[in-house]
Amino acid sequence: PTAARVDALLAEMTLAEKVGQTHQVANIHPHDDAAQLAQGRIGSSLFASGATGGNERDEGVLAANIDEAQRHAVEESRLGIPVLFGRDVIHGHRTVCPIPLGLAASWDEDLLEEVARVAASEAVVDGVAWTFAPMVDISEEPRWGRVAESLGETPVLSGRLAAALVRGFQGVDPGDPDRIAACVKHFAGYGLSAGGRDYDTVSVGENTLRNLHLRPFRSAVQAGVRTVMAAFNDVDGIPMHAHRHLLRDVLKGEWGFDGVVVADWNGIGQLVNQGVAADLRDAARQGIEAGVDLDMCSGSYAAHLADLVESGEVDVALVDDAVRRILGLKFELGLFERPYVGDPGRSNAPTPQSRVVALRAAQAAHVLVANNGVLPLDPSSGTVHLTGPYAEAGEELLGTWTLDGRGEDVVAPATAFRKRLGEERLLVTDGRFSDRAVQQVRNADVTVAVVGEHPWRSGEANSVTDIGLPAGQIEYVQQLARIGKPLVVVVYTGRPLELGPVLDAADAVLVVWHPGVEAGNALASVVFGDVSPHGRLPMTFPLTTGHIPTSTHQRPTGRLIEHDEDDRLGRYLDDLVFARLPFGHGLSYTTFAYGDLRAAGSIELAREGGSVEVEVDVTNTGERPGRETVQLSFRDLVAEVTRPLTELLDWAHLDLAPGEKGTARFTVRAEQLSYFGRDNRERIDVGDVVLTAGPDALHGSSLAIAVTG
Ligand code: IFM
Repeated sequence: PTAARVDALLAEMTLAEKVGQTHQVANIHPHDDAAQLAQGRIGSSLFASGATGGNERDEGVLAANIDEAQRHAVEESRLGIPVLFGRDVIHGHRTVCPIPLGLAASWDEDLLEEVARVAASEAVVDGVAWTFAPMVDISEEPRWGRVAESLGETPVLSGRLAAALVRGFQGVDPGDPDRIAACVKHFAGYGLSAGGRDYDTVSVGENTLRNLHLRPFRSAVQAGVRTVMAAFNDVDGIPMHAHRHLLRDVLKGEWGFDGVVVADWNGIGQLVNQGVAADLRDAARQGIEAGVDLDMCSGSYAAHLADLVESGEVDVALVDDAVRRILGLKFELGLFERPYVGDPGRSNAPTPQSRVVALRAAQAAHVLVANNGVLPLDPSSGTVHLTGPYAEAGEELLGTWTLDGRGEDVVAPATAFRKRLGEERLLVTDGRFSDRAVQQVRNADVTVAVVGEHPWRSGEANSVTDIGLPAGQIEYVQQLARIGKPLVVVVYTGRPLELGPVLDAADAVLVVWHPGVEAGNALASVVFGDVSPHGRLPMTFPLTTGHIPTSTHQRPTGRLIEHDEDDRLGRYLDDLVFARLPFGHGLSYTTFAYGDLRAAGSIELAREGGSVEVEVDVTNTGERPGRETVQLSFRDLVAEVTRPLTELLDWAHLDLAPGEKGTARFTVRAEQLSYFGRDNRERIDVGDVVLTAGPDALHGSSLAIAVTG
């Protein structure tokens, strides 16, 4: 029925109205843009600001502006086509949850689906119908600030978590008003920006692209994501906004994606800067030919598409196809039936219910990377010294891309600790005057130092040349450690950092990313042992900046045939260790012992759905309950192309009581082992693959499985 409605509407449209649908503006001003809206010249917008003031962040202002703009479009334009309002609702709308890299540390699909559902239900209150998330750029480069917004370095974790976010944002019931369209981005290769510099060029061949970087996009498309955003970068010389092969042949052709491809901000205009288009007109032609349906903010389609069609340089069928996709999305979202903001006065501030989700998400993002037994702390005795720049922090703990989050909604670490311990048993210093802080160390039984990156140091356009902690923080931690009292270090960050010196100085280290509105409560619940930490690193933490890249996808060389933690081949003379903390690493307040991996036979390709069942026993050998994330990885021993030394295949959570033994069971299907061969076609080979089940990417119990014909 949607296709029929789209066709009927399209048949009514003038060329100018069609072009209007492909034009997304940065900001609609309902008053100033009223005439454009009434002429059907604006199809979509990122923001909506009133001409007469009122901060968009003030309660109800965004909703009122969107509503007003929408009335011009729906009630005054000839065909009454509603505007599609998009906004970056990345890790929560008002109830901000951990940054995506922190969400990924949970390895929890149900949780992410719920986080996205809450975000969607808050975003619709403001009239937002579309978000530009999830981002699935494979992130192997910690210098690149945008890793904060990613779901980590592996296609399987990113792909499955992205699918969960898509389900949460988009919902399953078309009649549900609390859903928004998702957008998987940035297609493709953005994570490979040279040197980790944002927006830089990308040199990658199609085989690596297909075997690694395109895979999470394909998972999101299979999960039904309705939009895809093109990436700013080029791929081997061809800017993605002009990349006909990847956009048209692969995404829309091979994968059958029938949704909308949106440009990134001025991405079509930037074709001129990238030196492949002579001017904006030429850029518009290349964009539409490549398959970019909606122009974000360059104005190139609005200015030139009609003329390009009339002069015969662009086939009107290309414009029709783009408009069909955009209208289809608007119909699917129910915008024709419900164009207006339901109740512009309704609040979408965090509620007790949304805070429960944010708290669970923040707890699940806590990764305990070291602990000599100092954690958890006993909440009923002793004095705690909480110190460091984030002790009383609010907005800083929301993280990157939080257009609608508010500092006053954040529970600071000190607030949560005070609630636990009372004023008498908590000493708080901000670490600026270290002499006073040092004195407090002596007065307390334990120090908890909250250090790390400000969110402005990670995220878009925030790359660094050195992934060490910000200036002065290591020295501060070392100074605290020298006094000899127990020291717990909590690291807020948007990226993997060089943690060696902190690990050497502290008794326990928690990596907690930027956790969102429930930051303090989550930290207190973990530190005082209500919850045993169970987050796992979604990216490798290199030993130093100089070791980058260190991702788990390293492929064998003629001389390096296995991950070699001590790097006995001596590829670096000065620092031998490969990764300081491997992908998947994370401790608990208990300990786990693994049995041997067992398999029931082999994988027969000839059999429809050929698969094998494998399992491993895991025992909680400690004294507390805990959750183990059992990670199943594989290595293809002989293939047409070099394959990763280890690649995540699947994972399972086991919640075990002290002494309890559980079994993690996996079904390994033949298609999970497929790869793209020398001809860039997908294939599965006969031969052996080695499966490993363990607590992280580098350790575990292994077993060879035969794949037979
Ligand atoms: O969604 C973002 C994108 O990731 C980077 N450029 C701007 C877009 C819209 O805000």
